[in-house]
Amino acid sequence: MMRIDILTVVPELLRSPFEASILKRATDAGLVEVHIHNLRDYATNAYKQVDDYQFGGGAGMVMMIEPIDKCISDLKAERDYDEIIYMTPDGNQMDQGMANALSLKKNIIILCGHYKGVDQRVRDHLISREISIGDYVLSGGELGAAVLCDAVIRLIPGVLGNETSALTDSFQDDLLAPPIFTRPREYKGWKVPEILFGGNLPEIEKWREEEALKRTQEKRPDLLDNSEL
Ligand code: ADE
Repeated sequence: MMRIDILTVVPELLRSPFEASILKRATDAGLVEVHIHNLRDYATNAYKQVDDYQFGGGAGMVMMIEPIDKCISDLKAERDYDEIIYMTPDGNQMDQGMANALSLKKNIIILCGHYKGVDQRVRDHLISREISIGDYVLSGGELGAAVLCDAVIRLIPGVLGNETSALTDSFQDDLLAPPIFTRPREYKGWKVPEILFGGNLPEIEKWREEEALKRTQEKRPDLLDNSEL
């Protein structure tokens, strides 16, 4: 059982991704537990303040270290954590390899930044890893955390119905996935490739590999540069 604790000032942003489809099924099956913590509950002053002006001046509020440290300390008192991740656009860019590695962990904390970001001392002393989901700026780390959780949770053994299907995803072998088809066999004159109906499984597999390679060469030649193909 994997456990993910997400720390945020906007818990509403993190509800629905875990209440539907595959992530809900994973939770219902007891394969993962996701706990969302509102940092405001750990605020130390009467105003439940979690952010403040930045020292030295400048626009934008900064998330204070105290509520974050209190929340992380409470969690660490209960169990050991493999990673304490901070979602930030200047972190290491997430990819499938990172998702694979994280899916093998037992307990992880994900801290979502908001406003201008967190006090640097959080990053220096409390965080083990900083992750970005891409070179663009979101209004907070929550949607990034949801993306990360989705990519990781679907890889946990037993989460996907068909055990092999995560292995045939795009990127899993540095190739994009081949084209897929379902009924009807012909629609508006647009036909499904004949080879898929022959029942010749080795031939179909060979066709899929060729198509995957062709698609990768066309759309993402950069992926082929670092693979052994
Ligand atoms: N927070 C703001 N932008 C982000 C990004 N691109 N990735 C992760 N967290 C973020």
